[in-house]
Amino acid sequence: MVVVGAGQMARAMVAGWQRQACPFHTIYTVDPHQSEGLGENTMACAHPEDLPPLPHPYVVMFAVKPQILGDLLPQWKGITANARLVLSIAAGFSCARLQQGLGRPVIRLMPNTPVAVGSGIVGYYTPTVWDDPTQAFVQDILRPLGLLVPVGSEDDLNRITAFSGSGPAYIYAFLEGLEQAALSLGLSPDLAPAMAQTLMRGSLNLKDASPQSAAALRQAVTSKGGTTEAGLSILMHPDTGLFPLLNATVQAAYRRAGGIGEQGSGNER
Ligand SMILES: NC(=O)c1ccc[n+]([C@@H]2O[C@H](COP(=O)([O-])OP(=O)(O)OC[C@H]3O[C@@H](n4cnc5c(N)ncnc54)[C@H](OP(=O)(O)O)[C@@H]3O)[C@@H](O)[C@H]2O)c1
Repeated sequence: MVVVGAGQMARAMVAGWQRQACPFHTIYTVDPHQSEGLGENTMACAHPEDLPPLPHPYVVMFAVKPQILGDLLPQWKGITANARLVLSIAAGFSCARLQQGLGRPVIRLMPNTPVAVGSGIVGYYTPTVWDDPTQAFVQDILRPLGLLVPVGSEDDLNRITAFSGSGPAYIYAFLEGLEQAALSLGLSPDLAPAMAQTLMRGSLNLKDASPQSAAALRQAVTSKGGTTEAGLSILMHPDTGLFPLLNATVQAAYRRAGGIGEQGSGNER
């Protein structure tokens, strides 16, 4: 496996692969500014010319920023020509542009950072019809990373980018907000972060253990005229509460990702 760009997302994916039986014998990272490998079974190279002869079948994955990807493609044409699969995680960089640059089809992925602990979401789109062995191979590679979501269009991938690709940041922002809310009530600064995190984790653990919907579990905490109802009158206000805020959040991210469907009005890059 060759990973082009050893940044945040590449590291998260490599960590996810390394957690359990890694589907790759060796993971080569190619990044001009990283001289150290990313742990067991990895090797760092500064440039594509530094790669050793690659054992077949091998996979190449582009994990650089979309802004520089177009300029990189010509120097990877030779290596990708012989790869079993070529993958790209660059947000908003279309399959057509990838194919134009490399002269072969490329599968686009949209992972998120929790892949590092095997709890990610990986959307994937392929521009060509797959044979069954290739389909099985792709799923075998991605399964250790978390929930796989095959999509039928690149615009669906933009939706996944806006929802789960960016999603961990939304959740951490909510966690930060909970911490600040605890402090605003005068709770101990030493305990506020742990309380906020335990509140979130405990509620999700209970949800995992329960057959009930999120709405039913919320209602179970809310009694008529009680404290929770008073709090939710702000949090769930139909105009200014969390739901319209989250809708606006994912819409803004979708437009930035290049969304072109009914839910967005941005331009595909
Ligand atoms: N972060 C996420 O949550 C997330 C989620 C889904 C998809 N993605 C996608 O993942 C890609 C990488 O994002 P990231 O957040 O991981 O960014 P990042 O941390 O900046 O990683 C990009 C890496 O590529 C390196 N690089 C620069 N020029 C290179 C070259 N010529 N050859 C090889 N590597 C080179 C960068 O090195 P320098 O820093 O030294 O320039 C950096 O280490 C983006 O396309 C993004 O759309 C990210």
